[in-house]
Amino acid sequence: MNKIGLFYSFNTVKTKQQVNKIKKSLGEDNIEEKNVEEITQEEFNKYKNYILAIPTWFDGELPNYWDEFLPAIEDDSFKGKTFALFGGGDQKGYPENFVDGLGLMADFIEKRGGKIVGLTSTEGYQFESSKAQRGDKFVGLALDIENQAALTEERVSKWVEQLKKEFK
Ligand SMILES: Cc1cc2nc3c(=O)[nH]c(=O)nc-3n(C[C@H](O)[C@H](O)[C@H](O)COP(=O)(O)O)c2cc1C
Repeated sequence: MNKIGLFYSFNTVKTKQQVNKIKKSLGEDNIEEKNVEEITQEEFNKYKNYILAIPTWFDGELPNYWDEFLPAIEDDSFKGKTFALFGGGDQKGYPENFVDGLGLMADFIEKRGGKIVGLTSTEGYQFESSKAQRGDKFVGLALDIENQAALTEERVSKWVEQLKKEFK
């Protein structure tokens, strides 16, 4: 397996907790961590395998730091690259926009030729609509620390086992 570039905001609290669980499951040797708030286009493009942390903010939007970085890579091609997405959401607080950020990012990547892996079942979540939903799947791993914190550990370890098979 190629080294995975794990991109998230180092200034988050909840995302960081989720990242720590992912790191533990996947093994730190397989990962290089990068702070989305400080990366350049060149640093982003160095990898073949990516895990991107995308919590949803502002009623169905990306957090500011992703919105501010994406213009730097909007003209790039992600052909031959593989991406796995995860992110926090709150299905009770935002049932109409649950983990929308995952869907927004999946669209951005696929438009540029990247492949998304790590899709997960929507079973076990209750929400009204989500841009991250495709059929009975999310385009990544949805973690809901507000309402389902106890399920996070198991969701992460299942997802990581899946990624070990899906990343090349
Ligand atoms: C102002 C605000 C807006 C939010 N909007 C959404 C939303 O639209 N959809 C959703 O699923 N979760 C939403 N959430 C929940 C966050 O995505 C969730 O708490 C996440 O774990 C935050 O991670 P972070 O603190 O690492 O950024 C929102 C949270 C806040 C505080």
